[in-house]
Amino acid sequence: MSVLNTEGLKAYYIIDVLGEKRYVRAVDDVDLEIRENEIYGIAGESGCGKTTLIKTLFGMVEPPLNVMDGKVKYKMNAEYADIFAMDNKRMREIRWEYISYIPQGSMSVLNPVQKVRYSFEHFIKAHRRIRNKEEEFIKPVERHLQALGLPVQILDSYPHQLSGGMRQRVTVALATVLQPKIIIADEPTTALDVVMQRGVIQLLKDVQSSLKNTIIMVTHDMGIHANIADRIGIMYAGKMIEEASTEEIFGNPLHPYTQYLIGSLPKIGDKSYKTSAPGAPPSLINPPEGCRFYPRCDRATDECKAAIPKLVEIEPGHKAACFLYSGVKEDE
Ligand SMILES: Nc1ncnc2c1ncn2[C@@H]1O[C@H](COP(=O)(O)OP(=O)(O)OP(=O)(O)O)[C@@H](O)[C@H]1O
Ligand SMILES: [Mg+2]
Repeated sequence: MSVLNTEGLKAYYIIDVLGEKRYVRAVDDVDLEIRENEIYGIAGESGCGKTTLIKTLFGMVEPPLNVMDGKVKYKMNAEYADIFAMDNKRMREIRWEYISYIPQGSMSVLNPVQKVRYSFEHFIKAHRRIRNKEEEFIKPVERHLQALGLPVQILDSYPHQLSGGMRQRVTVALATVLQPKIIIADEPTTALDVVMQRGVIQLLKDVQSSLKNTIIMVTHDMGIHANIADRIGIMYAGKMIEEASTEEIFGNPLHPYTQYLIGSLPKIGDKSYKTSAPGAPPSLINPPEGCRFYPRCDRATDECKAAIPKLVEIEPGHKAACFLYSGVKEDE
């Protein structure tokens, strides 16, 4: 059962270049089906559109970003609701209670000049009418922190008194205190050292197993995905180019780009220099015609330059957008 879907989602930045309107095609025709209770990882190099995609999933679409086409649907009360058809009031109601978002570089979610307790209080009061502070605020927050293995004393700290890793775990606790069904986290471990990363990953796993919710987790770090994700979607230049279970992505990667991403994982003791897929992702204002990866792909043929391969199921539960496996083209 899916809990969040997209259909043909296109989200472009509309920018002005020397007086001319240009489109940055950051999310370009993405179909997703996120399942209930799964941890879905979104991977891809910098600039591939990961943040833009999840901002759009959260309905956080403000100029210069525009949804050009497609839908985002949340499953609510056994029905699918189109979020772009909701008014602002409804959207505000379901944010944080139904779906929550831990933005990239999210230390800023905590108010730096107030104790952590006030961030929680402010957050909860924005969503719930509190009559009995002890019963409806203090106790549930303390229970939540305890359930996540965080010391209750942090409530009386200022954010700067906490380590970076603890601050990030507090951010996760804050984003999950209203028990949302879906949590979206954008690079929640990127600024942290390895030990701290492990703490945050474990916390996200604990949140998932205690709340039985869905986590959509974005990072360019394939090692983190290997540790936490049930399924992984690989993005390249605004498109989803492969999707499969974590075992399949690492054990049987199909798309040459995925093979490159995995091959570029540093291995202990491996000092060999990686020469595959040199270069960087293309500009999303003028992406290459055809497969967007072909300029970097050592297996590209004329077909790859001429048409865009469509993301289709190659093996059960394993999709790829590559002419090595299927002749299906995107119709453009
Ligand atoms: N406000 C903006 N105006 C114009 N273009 C933007 C804007 N924000 C992002 N972009 C462009 O959209 C594309 C996708 O960016 P996005 O931030 O979604 O990538 P990302 O995969 O999250 O990268 P990173 O791994 O660096 O966080 C990039 O080409 C980026 O330059
Ligand atoms: Mg990003």
